[in-house]
This record gives sequence, C-alpha cells and structure tokens, in this order.
Amino acid sequence: MKDRIATVKENVQVADGIWSMTLAFDDFEKVEGAQFLDIKLPDKSKILRRPFCICDFDEKKKTALVCYAVVGGGTEVLSGVKAGEKLNVLLPLGNGYRPVGKRIMLIGGGMGVAVLPAVVTANPDKEFFSYIGFANAGKVVLEKELASKCAGVTVATDDGSYGKKGFVTTVAREAFDAVRPDEIFVCGPEVMYKAVRKTFEGVDVPIYVSLEQRMGCGIGACLVCNCKVKRADGEGYVRVCKDGPVFLLNEVVL
Ligand SMILES: Cc1cc2nc3c(=O)[nH]c(=O)nc-3n(C[C@H](O)[C@H](O)[C@H](O)COP(=O)(O)OP(=O)(O)OC[C@H]3O[C@@H](n4cnc5c(N)ncnc54)[C@H](O)[C@@H]3O)c2cc1C
Ligand code: FES
Repeated sequence: MKDRIATVKENVQVADGIWSMTLAFDDFEKVEGAQFLDIKLPDKSKILRRPFCICDFDEKKKTALVCYAVVGGGTEVLSGVKAGEKLNVLLPLGNGYRPVGKRIMLIGGGMGVAVLPAVVTANPDKEFFSYIGFANAGKVVLEKELASKCAGVTVATDDGSYGKKGFVTTVAREAFDAVRPDEIFVCGPEVMYKAVRKTFEGVDVPIYVSLEQRMGCGIGACLVCNCKVKRADGEGYVRVCKDGPVFLLNEVVL
C-alpha cells in the first residue's frame, strides 16, 4: 500500500448517476479483486478520503478503473474532475477474494458490481460465471466488460426493464445447479447478503462477501469501520478496511 499521484485519463458518465474514471500511475503493484483505493478529493472542505473498489486494473499499463455512483458532495466533486488532472490515491487497501477452486460464481448488486471485473482480471486461470442485478435498465453497468472475460454473464433488473426480471440472488440461485461453482463471491448492499443467506441456505460451497462501511482512515487505525463477526472462538469485531473487506458470509453478523 502506498500513497500515489494518479493522472486522470478519463472520467465519464456511463449510466444513470454512474461514472467511470481511469487513473494512471507511475508505479503499480499487484491487485486482488475487492481491494480498494482511497481518493483525496481536490476540495479542501472534504477532509476524509473517499474509498472505492478497484473495479479493474491493467498491470502493464499501470492503470486502475473506478466505477462510482454520485451520491453526495464527495462523489459530486469527483465527477467534476477532468482528464489530465492529478489526484492523491492510496492503494491497494484491504484484502481480496482469493479463489481456490476452478469455477467461481460472481454475484453483484447495484454498485457492488464494480468489484467484479478486477476479480476476473486477477485470476486468469479460473472460470467465472457472473450474475449482476440492478434496479432498472438505466443503472446497468459493466456488462460488456464482464462478458469479455467471463464464461457467462446474466443481467437481472428488479423491474424487468433489461435482462431477466427479478432479484439477482434468485436468478443466481436458479442457475446454481447448472453452474456447480466451487465458490461464490458476492458484492452488494447488506440487504442482498441477507437475501443470499436465505436463498442459498443449505448450499455446500463457501460464500464470500465484500462489506461496505463508512470509513475514516481506511488503513486500520480509527476503528470507524468496525463490523461484528461470529467465529468458532466467539463473537468479536473486525475492521472492514484492514481485516476485510472480504469475509465469509457465515461469519458476518448482519
Ligand atoms: C471499501 C469500499 C469500497 C467502495 N467502492 C465503491 C465503488 O466502487 N463505487 C461506488 O460508487 N461507491 C463505493 N463505495 C462507497 C463510496 O465510498 C461512497 O459512496 C462515497 O464515499 C460517498 O461519498 P460522498 O461524499 O459523495 O457522499 P456522502 O455525502 O459522504 O454520503 C452520501 C450518501 O452515501 C452514503 N455512503 C457514504 N459512504 C458510504 C459507504 N462507505 N457505504 C455505504 N454508503 C455510503 C451515505 O450514507 C449517504 O447516504 C465504497 C465504499 C467502501 C467502504
Ligand atoms: S476506516 Fe479507520 S480503521 Fe477502518
């Protein structure tokens, strides 16, 4: 992990309220899917850095992609950054998904989908089957990017305006027997993890989730991002930024 100066190569709107930013670095280190970066905003009134997952990366070109929704003042500032501007970026932070088996089911919901391309890029020897869900057609992102490197991509929308109609968790569960994955990696809002727990109950493969918490320091020092886990040795707290963001779904107290 290192504080780096990034040059913004591109920062464009790609869907309803969603932007894609490509950052180029002078030096780059190996990244795992679900690791994140912390951006210092070019606005002195925004003191805290804003965390975003490394959506995808190119080790040779030394670039990282960030796909973000504009939800408040910080992301509003970020959407105004122009190509050629420089940003202070701390990366890579946290742990990542570490596939052990060969066939991996990826499930992403909303902006959680932004975690998935990097998981595939970081593990070229694995076979990935992606299931991505959005509220409606206007919010669909990263379908093409995933389709170019996964064995299959299925899109679901809550209102049926694009792809299959329904929750992505249900769509993925219906496909489970045919895909027979060795592991399942999920990224989305907490409500989706509750749905996965229920829908995939009794399924005998490890399910990992990437947690999202409000963050302060991003490097394990402030404890703002604590989350409760239940392990064989009892209940306790972990730091999402340093011990995670990836955890076994079974261990997370939702
Ligand atoms: C490890 C990690 C990875 C992330 N990756 C992405 C990503 O790839 N793409 C993306 O769009 N967003 C991602 N986020 C969320 C992103 O950091 C927040 O949306 C952003 O910091 C909001 O900043 P803001 O100043 O615009 O909004 P604020 O004014 O700070 O908040 C606006 C709204 O966003 C909510 N919000 C702010 N931070 C978070 C958070 N950490 N988790 C959930 N809700 C939040 C607030 O509750 C509020 O409703 C990630 C967060 C974490 C912790
Ligand atoms: S954000 Fe400070 S410990 Fe995680």
